[in-house]
Amino acid sequence: MTAPNHSLPKAYFTEEDSAAVVTGQNINAKDARLSEVMDVITHHLHAAVKEIEPTQEEWFHAIQFLTATGHKCDDWRQEFILLSDVLGVSMLVDAINSRRPKGASENTVLGPFHVADAPEYPMGTNICLDAKGEDMVVRGRVLDVDGNPLEGVKIDVWQANDEGFYDVQQKGLQPEFNLRGVFRTGADGSYWFKAVRPKHYSIPADGPVGALLDGLGRHPWRPAHLHYIISKDGFDTVTTHIFDPDDPYIDNDAVFGVKESLIAAFDKIEDPAKIAKMGFGGTYYWNVDFDFVLAPKAAT
Ligand code: BEZ
Ligand code: FE
Repeated sequence: MTAPNHSLPKAYFTEEDSAAVVTGQNINAKDARLSEVMDVITHHLHAAVKEIEPTQEEWFHAIQFLTATGHKCDDWRQEFILLSDVLGVSMLVDAINSRRPKGASENTVLGPFHVADAPEYPMGTNICLDAKGEDMVVRGRVLDVDGNPLEGVKIDVWQANDEGFYDVQQKGLQPEFNLRGVFRTGADGSYWFKAVRPKHYSIPADGPVGALLDGLGRHPWRPAHLHYIISKDGFDTVTTHIFDPDDPYIDNDAVFGVKESLIAAFDKIEDPAKIAKMGFGGTYYWNVDFDFVLAPKAAT
């Protein structure tokens, strides 16, 4: 047991000085950053409690909510990240940590469905492995901030299927690695691959975060998007999505991931010659052109 420290200030509690009384006990903190962070959190938390004036029952309800959030977590499900997502905190922390020069591609949330060891494919490969959905071609270039093409950029993509589910959510129903893959840009900075048009989907809503959204009258839907992680040595890695502008949820993503610069255009191609050239069997496909701009590491 730690011996009493008589150099500490008196810590008799008063409602008025509550935060100062608590943080005053941290003067011997071994970790200066921890102490700084806990000072801020304690002051804001006490201010919030003073403003809200919760009843004992309400405070216990809050404790039960956090307890349930922890219990919902396992190796696969991270309910606290989901809570951070729906509160806009994931996007805020990301914004603070990925300030980039004007013109550089912006980040958005990573989400829980990235798989580290997706297969690397030659350019033009169709990453849809079960032939379900509306055909789509995605293409573009990766450039530096001066407009020069970047060769050998690693492009890691993943997306939900036509029904709004990732392969990892439907193991046994979708083929492993369905709608995900890694590509590398050519000498002209270009990339392209085939897939199917993604659909909007609900974030996992069967836990306490879903109940919170429901209580707030909020929906759990994310607008249709494709995920990208774009990386090259010497450049700031871009973790982002591109979004479908025609999606009904484009203006109110449940996790606030949409940024104007990330909204793509999905053009319907009905020219039989183009369809045949792509090797598709239907009467149309969707074409998406989207360029990315990487900022040098030092500039971020
Ligand atoms: C996703 O885009 O995969 C995602 C992001 C945040 C929460 C849930 C899913
Ligand atoms: Fe997603």
